[in-house]
Amino acid sequence: MLGNFSYSNPTKLYFGENSLDYLNEELPKYGKNVMLAYGGGSIKKNGIYDQVIEILRANGKNVFEDPGVMPNPTVEKLYEGCKIARSNDVNLILAVGGGSTADYAKAVSVSAYCEEDPWEKYYLRMEDVDNQIIPVGVVLTMVGTGSEMNGGAVITNPESKLKIGHVFGENVFPKFAILNPKFTYTLPKYQMTAGFFDIMSHILEQYFSGGDDNTSDYIMEGLLQSLIHSTRIAVSNPNDYEARSNIMWTATWALNTLVAKGKSTDWMVHMIGQAVGAYTDATHGMTLSAVSLPYYRYIMQDGLQKFRRFAMNVWKVNPEGKTVREVAEEGLDRMKDYMKEIGVAMNLSELGVTQEMIPGIAKATFILNGGYKVLTEQDVKAILKQSM
Ligand code: NZQ
Ligand code: ZN
Repeated sequence: MLGNFSYSNPTKLYFGENSLDYLNEELPKYGKNVMLAYGGGSIKKNGIYDQVIEILRANGKNVFEDPGVMPNPTVEKLYEGCKIARSNDVNLILAVGGGSTADYAKAVSVSAYCEEDPWEKYYLRMEDVDNQIIPVGVVLTMVGTGSEMNGGAVITNPESKLKIGHVFGENVFPKFAILNPKFTYTLPKYQMTAGFFDIMSHILEQYFSGGDDNTSDYIMEGLLQSLIHSTRIAVSNPNDYEARSNIMWTATWALNTLVAKGKSTDWMVHMIGQAVGAYTDATHGMTLSAVSLPYYRYIMQDGLQKFRRFAMNVWKVNPEGKTVREVAEEGLDRMKDYMKEIGVAMNLSELGVTQEMIPGIAKATFILNGGYKVLTEQDVKAILKQSM
């Protein structure tokens, strides 16, 4: 049965080749002081920085730059951003970059005026926001996380080796997001394909949970088919606009809260992947690809009918003359072939994980209970070993 829910998404999206022009429509809604958050410099190389700066100047904004947002943004960087935002009385945080920059901007937006340590309040204690929130806008340059239209803000504490995501409410979602598929053309292949798998994982985390007949599952099967089709094209021709734009749109829908409505969700692949990320600083999407198949094979028996449905509806496995288990396994085999074809990490050793790290990673994994099997720390260890 579809559960009860409310749904609204406050982020205004501008999509397409001319979408950056709409920054001119958004900027007048905010005060003069804009904090421009960006990463390690890709936007300077590909010219997006110049275009954004020109629009900010044309709109008479005072720009306070906050460069150097690293992939998997750290708590130290968050404290730094809070200082910049507060001391310059910032009215809008404009994140230009990927999920890391967008997540970071949201984290700063709720933390700048937080009277306690935001890491402790939002990440260790998972408390709600009860202070001033600075509005965030996003110009997206990397596709995968869905951060452009959700409340997620993942922060890493390298000292305590914890990578934690807080999913904030609608008041923290970006006010607007600008999605130009061409802005993603300069992504290195590794980042591009990591993003592709991140999208797939977001859908699977929400699909492999619950056993009811559910509209969301049909939507997700459609999204997966579009994703598989378009990513195959994009891997051989990264400048195929049709493929790249479909992927960008799929990524947004995969994690803008819609498909989770009315159903339970799993998220254990992300929990394990995040713990791997905290230990290795590896690229997010690759941490997920390395553990996904061992995880799904581990839990398959507990959700066998859904894995069969996945095989038939997504991978077009013919069930004739096969047992439920055989069909389900064939689906995961086809997923494995696809993953190899697009070139994502297939094991944790590739990401620098060593046998010695496994107990620590298992301990740092948050166990959730929405999936087909509630794992123990021992289960996580076994999955990690099978992922090596
Ligand atoms: O830093 P720069 O120089 O910009 O380079 C970045 C970075 O090295 C580069 N890049 C981005 N756009 C580019 C580009 N290079 C060339 N051309 C472009 N157009 O790509 C690298 C990775 O960027 P990053 O933002 O780290 O990637 P992603 O979008 O995958 O974000 C990962 C972060 O998002 C979190 C992850 O845990 C991780 O911390 N997530 C956020 C979620 C959410 N908000 O809901 C959910 C996700 O599951 C995920 O956990
Ligand atoms: Zn993800």
